[in-house]
Amino acid sequence: MRPDTAMPTDPPTTRPRTNVFEELESQVRSYCRSWPATFTTAAGSTLQAENGRSYLDFFAGAGALNYGHNHPVLLEALLDYLRSGGIVHSLDMHTAAKRDFLTTFRDRILVPRDLDYKLMFPGPTGTNSVESALKLARKVTGRQHILSFTNAFHGMTLGALSVTGNSMKRNGAGLPLTNSSKIPYDDYFSGATEDFLWLERVLSDSGSGVDKPAAIIVETVQGEGGLSAARPEWLRALSELCRTHEILLILDDVQAGCGRTGEFFSFEESGIVPDIVCLSKSISGFGLSMALTLIRPQLDQWEPGEHNGTFRGQNTSFVTGTAALNEFWSDDTFAEGVRERAAELHDGLAQIASGYAGAVVKGRGFLSGIKFQDASAASKIAAASYERGLLVETSGPEDEVLKTMPALTISSDELRSGVDIIAAAAAEVLGAPVMQEAAPDADMRGGAYNRGTDSRGEEGK
Ligand SMILES: Cc1ncc(COP(=O)(O)O)c(C=O)c1O
Repeated sequence: MRPDTAMPTDPPTTRPRTNVFEELESQVRSYCRSWPATFTTAAGSTLQAENGRSYLDFFAGAGALNYGHNHPVLLEALLDYLRSGGIVHSLDMHTAAKRDFLTTFRDRILVPRDLDYKLMFPGPTGTNSVESALKLARKVTGRQHILSFTNAFHGMTLGALSVTGNSMKRNGAGLPLTNSSKIPYDDYFSGATEDFLWLERVLSDSGSGVDKPAAIIVETVQGEGGLSAARPEWLRALSELCRTHEILLILDDVQAGCGRTGEFFSFEESGIVPDIVCLSKSISGFGLSMALTLIRPQLDQWEPGEHNGTFRGQNTSFVTGTAALNEFWSDDTFAEGVRERAAELHDGLAQIASGYAGAVVKGRGFLSGIKFQDASAASKIAAASYERGLLVETSGPEDEVLKTMPALTISSDELRSGVDIIAAAAAEVLGAPVMQEAAPDADMRGGAYNRGTDSRGEEGK
């Protein structure tokens, strides 16, 4: 458009010299504020930036890069497919790439775990999967209300926000978020109260005034909400409660799934079988967008097209997703390696935490971190880590937990380097570590939801 001569514009020379990101991109951007480098290439757990530096990745695309950047096997599969002229976009039409993904997911994931689910491809992000799960639960039960947990995070669209805890994100909705209530996550009262007592009571009491919900949605590890990890026995009790009261259990495995906790589904350890499972992030394996909602067959009551979208199940994502399942999930070898290296990460984090009063290790598997006594410490340590060449973020309503989420393919040496950087950054921010007295044994209270030593996912209290 030609400039309007009646409307004088600033001569170009007087314009402030900003970079194009600041000039053009919305203020909503966030990660680039903590990590202002301009990244160019990446391989495995290392990113290169235009400033000539390389950065070790303890972030893994917020969980979308479980197999690292540009894994060569997945890259080859993708390039072969594109070069062959394979279909890229097809909505929900039949394609050979989708057929390969469906059969591979059945053979590598469902059958070995004795799981029976129908696969639904909603829009391509985690929040789309959550929306589809909430909608289906309401349709199938005819009930409106959904229960979710304190500090939960399920996505940024309105339905997913309504079951999310974080007040800043909720306020962004700009309208009342209704038809959902929060109940306490495992250990919310620090072991002082049995978390389910209230819920069990009101669900059994026809005079309680509490409507029976359509579903309860839960994360096994609260990836964004501070890395609290539910104990397997707590998850089993939740599942039992849902079964008794005919409430659907939706398990949001968008962040903790696809191997992040050391098993393909994060709920495997507990032995529960949720009614609906939400997957996204690393299901394509390559950082390509894709989401998958698993539905117990009896619940698959959608009318054709009742929930759809233009970008469902991209074929490029099917191709890399299939390659990832074949490469990493044909047997237990990969998962065993993940568990071993997750233990190394855990030991490294525990070592750091033991140097600072009140610091505790949180989370499970490769979704673990440290909560420091001073809530502001984690952000400062993440910033100091960046200066030393490590990408690591924070979690929790006050960003109070330093969150480590390396690629599952990271080597022990890379893991060690990252932990060393965090230790140095912590010493810069908090001072030299002072070994604390040995952490007390975990609380061994009795009762139906007996707290075990390791299963709570928190140590050093
Ligand atoms: C547990 C969980 N559910 C849902 C989402 C939303 O996923 P997306 O950002 O792809 O919409 C996230 C994102 O971090 C998540 O951690």
